Amino acid sequence: MIVLGIDVGGSALKGAPVNTKTGRLLGERHRIEIDSPCPTVQGLAAARAIARHFKWSGPVGVGFPSVILDDHIGVVGNLGKNWEKKNGAVLFSRATGGRAKLFNDADAAGLAEMRFGAGKGQMGSVLMLTMGTGIGSALFFRGRLMPNLEFGHIPWRGRPIERFAAAAVRKRRKLTWPEWAKRVNTFLAVAERICSPELIIIGGGVSKKADKWLKYIKANAKVVPARMGNDAGIVGAALAWEQAGK
Ligand code: BGC
Repeated sequence: MIVLGIDVGGSALKGAPVNTKTGRLLGERHRIEIDSPCPTVQGLAAARAIARHFKWSGPVGVGFPSVILDDHIGVVGNLGKNWEKKNGAVLFSRATGGRAKLFNDADAAGLAEMRFGAGKGQMGSVLMLTMGTGIGSALFFRGRLMPNLEFGHIPWRGRPIERFAAAAVRKRRKLTWPEWAKRVNTFLAVAERICSPELIIIGGGVSKKADKWLKYIKANAKVVPARMGNDAGIVGAALAWEQAGK
């Protein structure tokens, strides 16, 4: 089926119609910058603009950077508190004019990597991490997702560990790649202590620059960069819509 996938990130919304059978985008992705934190009206206007750009009124899968329980937005790290406790499916359906469903953004990206990317055919325990403004996490076992895992919010020195090791921290603090990788190793050690995955897939923008950091990564599990790059969030949001059923 064709679903409009929208990936809500810390600095932009990105979307495109996706063929869920092939995992391919059916048009060049449309990106709209947002403020950080982002007022709800601004974020929803961006979603509306993406739907209009593709003249879309069909199903809309939205990957959103928070826990999502029963379509409701949970604690929001980076977009701002004004989103919290709202029924995101209702908000995004109204904004886009299509039937929207909401999922955690890392869960969505993980679904895409498991189906079409670095996790394809992996039946053991796989931990997908997205490195961006925050750290997203998704855990799979025998191909099935355990939703709403929030490894980025493990406390570290009194703060969520994503504020120590996310990709945005590298840029903000002007860390070298080895310095950043050392922080990621600290994070991975904590994550491995909790769930002992066989495979760790690292996604987000850094997945395209794996030559810069992968050689410094130390973990018990095999660590590989994600293969779907920035499209994983969009494709995964569409897959999640289809999986959730009509
Ligand atoms: C949020 C997660 C999200 C991650 C990546 C974190 O701050 O709590 O839900 O998956 O950022 O966007």
